[in-house]
Amino acid sequence: MKAIVIDRFGGPEELHAAQLPDPQPGAGQVRVRVEAVGVNHFDAKLRSGAMASPDTPMPLLLGIEAAGIVDRLGVGVGDVAEGDRVVGFTEGGAYAELAVLATYAVVPEGLEPAVAVSLPVAGEAAQRVLRLLDLRPGETLLVHGASGAVGELATQLAAAAGVKVIGTASPANQERVASLGATPTAYGDGWLDRVRAIAPGGVDAVLDTTGRGVLDDSVELLGGSERLVTIADAAAFTKGITFSSQAERSASALADLVARRAAGELTTTIGRVFPLDEAGAAQELSAGGHAGGKLVLVP
Ligand SMILES: NC(=O)c1ccc[n+]([C@@H]2O[C@H](COP(=O)([O-])OP(=O)(O)OC[C@H]3O[C@@H](n4cnc5c(N)ncnc54)[C@H](OP(=O)(O)O)[C@@H]3O)[C@@H](O)[C@H]2O)c1
Repeated sequence: MKAIVIDRFGGPEELHAAQLPDPQPGAGQVRVRVEAVGVNHFDAKLRSGAMASPDTPMPLLLGIEAAGIVDRLGVGVGDVAEGDRVVGFTEGGAYAELAVLATYAVVPEGLEPAVAVSLPVAGEAAQRVLRLLDLRPGETLLVHGASGAVGELATQLAAAAGVKVIGTASPANQERVASLGATPTAYGDGWLDRVRAIAPGGVDAVLDTTGRGVLDDSVELLGGSERLVTIADAAAFTKGITFSSQAERSASALADLVARRAAGELTTTIGRVFPLDEAGAAQELSAGGHAGGKLVLVP
């Protein structure tokens, strides 16, 4: 199959086309003819070597989520058939014509693959951090980066559960954050005062999806770090703040997100769709931190 791989760690210029053997699904897995691949910040971190061990086998195929048409079933798979459209978490990469999915959900008629692929990684992270923050209806949550792929879903899932959400975003994304059910405010200098003006009684919990140095002021806002979770700021480790990184992949949780997205109960914003050959440009845009929504590759 055609794939986009790296032969060594480095910049986006290391991504290049190659022919790889077709992957085979293991027990309980399915192989798909890829229609859409989600681009994640993690991809660029793997590519650069920042998140991979030095003995990672090369060539390395990136990509942790994909949507496509099932073309081969692993042993024991009985919940989908060849020809079904599914979306899920990949095993062994996805910047390619074929990918193996280990945890997947059926994509209903009418939901575009490029939209479905916005759900696995961002949705899992959003569901996980909200579980950790243990929010109750009526409580107030501050989401740093409510306009991002994870923040957008966390905001909506919390708001749907009766939580009052305040969400930070750039000026261009204030209206979009409001449409997700949050009170928007700008990030950057003065955010703490702006949040206090919106919530004079304080907030109950804080989620940081940005990693942009908001932890200390968030502790001050909360009066402690018990209900503060970051998914992006490694400074958490030295500050005794929860850094959540361990994905809890669940087919039923993914199916719930897909069903709610298809029913219009959740929205996800697609920042841009790139041809697979332009994976490097997509990763650069992602790394800039203002992608405007999920970035997607199509083979
Ligand atoms: N630990 C985990 O399990 C896990 C899972 C998934 C993702 N992540 C990490 O979580 C982070 C977010 O991922 P994502 O896919 O949601 O990213 P994304 O879509 O690129 O979103 C980035 C967010 O950060 C905001 N932002 C940009 N510059 C900022 C600044 N200077 N100050 C405050 N906010 C700023 C953006 O706002 P505007 O666009 O409005 O400028 C946007 O809301 C990444 O670091 C990713 O690696 C971790």
